[in-house]
Amino acid sequence: MPKDALPRIRLALLYGGRSGEHDVSIASATSVMQAIDKDKYDVLPVYLTPVGRWLPGVEPVQLTAGAHPVAATVALFSSDPQQPGLLPLSNDPAVQPEQAQAVDVVFPLLHGTYGEDGTVQGLLELANVPYVGSGVLGSAAGMDKDVMKTLFAAAGLPVVPHLLVRRREWEQQPATVQDRVLQMLRLPVFVKPANLGSSVGISKVSDAAALPDALDLACRYDRRVLVEQGLDCREFECSVLGNDEPEASVIGEIIPSREFYDYQAKYSDDESSELRIPADIDASLAENLRAMAVTAFQAVDAAGLARVDFFLETHTGKSYVNEINTLPGFTTISMYPKLWEATGFSYAQLIDNLVSLAIERHQDRQRSLTVYGQDP
Ligand SMILES: Nc1ncnc2c1ncn2[C@@H]1O[C@H](COP(=O)(O)OP(=O)(O)O)[C@@H](O)[C@H]1O
Ligand SMILES: [Mg+2]
Repeated sequence: MPKDALPRIRLALLYGGRSGEHDVSIASATSVMQAIDKDKYDVLPVYLTPVGRWLPGVEPVQLTAGAHPVAATVALFSSDPQQPGLLPLSNDPAVQPEQAQAVDVVFPLLHGTYGEDGTVQGLLELANVPYVGSGVLGSAAGMDKDVMKTLFAAAGLPVVPHLLVRRREWEQQPATVQDRVLQMLRLPVFVKPANLGSSVGISKVSDAAALPDALDLACRYDRRVLVEQGLDCREFECSVLGNDEPEASVIGEIIPSREFYDYQAKYSDDESSELRIPADIDASLAENLRAMAVTAFQAVDAAGLARVDFFLETHTGKSYVNEINTLPGFTTISMYPKLWEATGFSYAQLIDNLVSLAIERHQDRQRSLTVYGQDP
């Protein structure tokens, strides 16, 4: 059959979102739109505004150029499995709300809150449509730094000593919280909101007097805050791809341009941190990190893709799993696709693999009964 006669996959690319990582998502989506194989896919970009409206048809490249989003209609995503897809919300009588614009696969390329955390995944589950990446549980567990570390430890993975502080506790008993931190951990410590990414709200505290400000800051972003032993360390990352039999890429190293890998070190052009691929480490350490990456992926029940990040403590040589990102940065120059490129396949092939994995996982889910005694 000639190539152009193959049915093209209608792919909805969700990007933007109600998250501090909104702009990172626009950058990721711009790369996907440029690289995706147009012979295989009919791509419908859907821009999710910072307040959560869905605007089908807005191209990410317009937004990277600073343009204001112009959409013909606002849409809702139908959660009706008989008619999943984008439903226009319009005052125009010619636009019938029952005409859902059908899609075959959804790629929620959304980083952080309301996108990487299981919320959008829940909607897509209700609609029973295949989507790229982890499901509700994997996304939610992989987004919460306390829950993920609990699951990692249960799977036998080494995690950095830490403790959890609840916002209410911090507000009502600050002296008790400070004592507990200083008794259980050595300075420096890192204070982090449990559910956020891109280093937003994170502080390194080297002096006890700076602890209250760091806790106040993190508590502005989340009800739950992690205080973690600070390490003097190198940072490594590994990309994982797959569903039930995930595979790990070569290892990359991050050399932060600043004291730690904070928001500016991650995204500022003039301070860009260095990515070293493959990392300059011996083969046995690389193998060990790759195996831990797969274990971490399975520990949170991730699917499709995830990047697993590690610390290697300088003076002890001990490695720790820091975190998993179930929707890692996905521009053509981001670590996740770069590691796969170094392992053997291109950015466009990576997108193909992710779509195939989404369809495979959806088919596998259809095998599970939802009603007791239902015929197979
Ligand atoms: N315990 C720690 N010891 C040393 N550096 C840390 C520690 N925790 C975080 N960092 C630094 O802060 C950065 C961001 O922290 P991380 O937990 O990865 O949060 P995020 O999800 O925002 O990326 C890390 O990449 C690292 O540079
Ligand atoms: Mg990180």
